[in-house]
Amino acid sequence: MKKSIGDSNFIEKAMTYSSIADSKIIRAGIIFASGRINKNIHDDSLLTLATAVELIHTYSLIHDDLPSMDDDDFRRGKESNHIKFGEANAILAGDALQALAYEVICDDKKLDSNSKVQAIKLISNACGKNGMVLGQHLDIESESKDVNIKDVDNIHSLKTGRLIECSVMLGQINNNDQKIKEILNNFGRKIGLAFQITDDILEATSDKSTLGKNNNSDLKNNKSTYIKVIGLKEAKNKSYELSSSAIKSLEELMLNETNMLIELAKYISYREK
Ligand code: IPE
Ligand code: IPE
Ligand code: MG
Ligand code: MG
Repeated sequence: MKKSIGDSNFIEKAMTYSSIADSKIIRAGIIFASGRINKNIHDDSLLTLATAVELIHTYSLIHDDLPSMDDDDFRRGKESNHIKFGEANAILAGDALQALAYEVICDDKKLDSNSKVQAIKLISNACGKNGMVLGQHLDIESESKDVNIKDVDNIHSLKTGRLIECSVMLGQINNNDQKIKEILNNFGRKIGLAFQITDDILEATSDKSTLGKNNNSDLKNNKSTYIKVIGLKEAKNKSYELSSSAIKSLEELMLNETNMLIELAKYISYREK
């Protein structure tokens, strides 16, 4: 990631600061795990796609922490990007990370043009006005409002789930087996939602130094979280149910290569940070 960004100007420094900070890089892991089931993609291209998605994810975190959004001053174990570099530069660093993600895909040496278009389409669709950005809008709009479980499902699936689902599908670029893709898409949708439910749970049950981010942000902003709507116990059950049902859906494939996806699905619900 550091190599893709460079460090010749101030914005590149701001981009690198957040990109190479302490992260679980789970979306990259998902792309590699999914890629194991696809014989038509080179490992180098999986790395390209993983880099692109982690750049997009980092952009989303920088913007998520801005004063006009969640107003959080701590991320990935250090000061948030806007605290360190100023608000305007944090916005610009996020913008540039997003643009760079697409450039990195265009520059890949092993993907053919059609695969690049497929990848760009998957990411732009997952992140844009009907995906992550819409989820972020609804998340902000729902602050201090009475929402039901369907609303929170929708917000969580959009703001976080879509990029995770997209990561599963990026591992399948150039795979023409529609049955596998359908099963994996369903798997991705479930683990994507489970990931954000667990994020809500950890924020309510863990601490700042373990998480590397503020653990009072949802309360401070009166966010519509799973905990608020169905309580901690039910939220945990829902996350466990989603990951085990996602794992179950992979059984139909009868492939040993799904083992890494299975481990990641378990990790997503049972993680401690
Ligand atoms: C945090 O994502 C923000 C959400 C979308 C829930 P991660 O928990 O994957 O954050 P990093 O990448 O490990 O910092
Ligand atoms: C972040 O959701 C979602 C995106 C960045 C798209 P949250 O606001 O719930 O995540 P944290 O708790 O700040 O990491
Ligand atoms: Mg947020
Ligand atoms: Mg936040």
